[in-house]
Amino acid sequence: MQSEEFTLFVHERGTALFRDMPWRRDTSAYNVLVSEIMLQQTQVDRVLPKFEAFMVRFPDVAALASAPLADVLVLWSGLGYNRRAKFLHEASKMIVREFGGELPGIHTELMRLPGVGVNTAGAILAYAFNQPVVYIETNVRTVYLHHFFESNSQVSDAMIREKVEATLDRREPRLFYWALMDYGSWLKRSGVKN
Ligand code: ADE
Repeated sequence: MQSEEFTLFVHERGTALFRDMPWRRDTSAYNVLVSEIMLQQTQVDRVLPKFEAFMVRFPDVAALASAPLADVLVLWSGLGYNRRAKFLHEASKMIVREFGGELPGIHTELMRLPGVGVNTAGAILAYAFNQPVVYIETNVRTVYLHHFFESNSQVSDAMIREKVEATLDRREPRLFYWALMDYGSWLKRSGVKN
């Protein structure tokens, strides 16, 4: 499959398999940050109710930053990996203190936030800022492994990055990555690829 053909194909699968999620309806950077931290180790269906409750209690970055950690942990319970809640809380304080309450749309700045690594920073740029960044996560890997590396089990992130670079829809990065998420998740569910 040629690059352009693949890009179109991913969009088609994305349209067919689109999953409605609150952080896709409202793509504000705070929503994306909270959802991406929750989704780092937890499946979408388990995150959904937790995300909704979290947003009721902490509707914006200022509300989160001014809350006691104990309250954050209460809302986090059931998600596990409590370190993430602590990081998110610290990140909100840093956003208020150092970034005037707004998440920066710059990779290196995002990476300074506790709990935000290369991939989470990439996700925030793609989903909240609609920037054509290259970022890898498990569903992205699944799609590229399936289409470009069928017979090769030793595929590094660098090799995947190269393919993402070549096929990323730079006009619609947010939509493109949503499509990769939904198609990758579908491939896994249908047992095509792990
Ligand atoms: N949509 C936006 N971010 C996502 C993620 N990390 N997993 C699944 N769907 C998403």
